[in-house]
Amino acid sequence: MYESEEAWREVDAYFVDTLVPEDEALTDARESGRRTTMPQAEVAPNQGKLLAMLCRMSGATRVLEFGTLAGYSTVWLARAVGEKGHVTSLELEEHNAAIARANLEHAGVGERVDVLVGPAADSARRLIKDGVGPYDFVFIDADKPSNPAYLEASLALTRAGSVIVIDNVVRNGAVTDPDSPDDRVQGVRTVLADIARDARLEATALQTVGSKGWDGFTIVHRVS
Ligand code: DHB
Ligand code: MG
Repeated sequence: MYESEEAWREVDAYFVDTLVPEDEALTDARESGRRTTMPQAEVAPNQGKLLAMLCRMSGATRVLEFGTLAGYSTVWLARAVGEKGHVTSLELEEHNAAIARANLEHAGVGERVDVLVGPAADSARRLIKDGVGPYDFVFIDADKPSNPAYLEASLALTRAGSVIVIDNVVRNGAVTDPDSPDDRVQGVRTVLADIARDARLEATALQTVGSKGWDGFTIVHRVS
């Protein structure tokens, strides 16, 4: 029971049952993740609430998300920014974006979210060119090899005080292998090194276990 994936799941279920009620819109958004090109890649409910709380605690009203899928984390973020807030979420696949838009409408936040379709690096480049931002909060949760490019774009789209969270930085422990042939692992390692080298940023990382297995977040605070 202890130290097993089953126990992690039970504890997550207990925490979610106790502290993280989901309404039908969130449940539907989570379940519709199965119809996307990456089933079950959405954050866990207690992680979604963490993102929402980080937004509210830091007073974020302008949010940028890399990787929408069915929009589960997007619903959490859009609710967190409030009626006057805005979320821009970048999604590669029109098929996924259509599912996300329906979920966002159902959650009552469709009007405060733009889902931009195409390679996220291209969409971000357009935002930079258009002088959009600065964003208060960024959630990087798309293709992992592009993490370094997404961080760089985020730095062009944020300000001193902004918060950047990067998902999936543990990869079942593979992140410690400097010789990993997995370009997703290398995408995580490179972005962590980039963060460490950047004097504008303070950061930490946390491992998580639970309904999403063994994984974790990096949390970055842009100080200057
Ligand atoms: C993967 C990506 C995610 O964003 C996630 O939460 C879980 C897994 C992946 O690329 O395998
Ligand atoms: Mg993720």
